[in-house]
Amino acid sequence: MNVIGIVGSPRINGNTELLTAHTLKAIAEEGIDTEIVRLAGLDIRPCNACMACLKGEQCSIKDDLFPIYLKMKQADGIILSAPVYFGSASGLMKSFSERAGYIARNNNKAFTGKVGGPLVVARRVGHNFALAELNFWFLIQGMIIPGSTYWNIAFGRNKGDVLKDEEGMTTVWGFGKAMASTLKKMRN
Ligand SMILES: Cc1cc2nc3c(=O)[nH]c(=O)nc-3n(C[C@H](O)[C@H](O)[C@H](O)COP(=O)(O)O)c2cc1C
Repeated sequence: MNVIGIVGSPRINGNTELLTAHTLKAIAEEGIDTEIVRLAGLDIRPCNACMACLKGEQCSIKDDLFPIYLKMKQADGIILSAPVYFGSASGLMKSFSERAGYIARNNNKAFTGKVGGPLVVARRVGHNFALAELNFWFLIQGMIIPGSTYWNIAFGRNKGDVLKDEEGMTTVWGFGKAMASTLKKMRN
């Protein structure tokens, strides 16, 4: 079994990445393979509505997205993590998720039945909205979202701040454990 965590922040080693790495650590402890994928520095463009993915498992935009889509297809679990930008999930994550999600939906609903969920970081405000945006994505894919002791949000502004948000770190740890136990139950 394996879980992929996709980090939708342009900042390497930023709060979103730290939160994702912490969640994946909780999952790895349970004997499940994990992989972190940073979208930072990659060429990820928004959907151009060409509808090529209706005609086959493909994307007409030749950037860095499709290989990551294939990794998601192989994975048993998918985490999408984003910083909040102007009250919403980052544009980088939006561009990524709209295209990966559309290819999957139009091609045998490729992500249906997988386990996953969102992680969201903000300095002060907008977690709820960004979390809801990403939850919409998981639910329309037919994916299973485990819960935790709180919603998967954390606070932080500068790189590393999120590590001081004890409750946020505990929440995503619990989410990682819930993902692992859901995956194990599904396998039995
Ligand atoms: C363009 C931009 C817009 C932002 N908008 C918000 C916002 O609406 N609400 C908020 O609380 N923080 C906002 N922030 C702060 C980030 O969410 C915060 O610094 C977060 O920790 C960044 O995650 P990272 O370290 O993974 O990049 C914004 C940051 C940037 C660069």
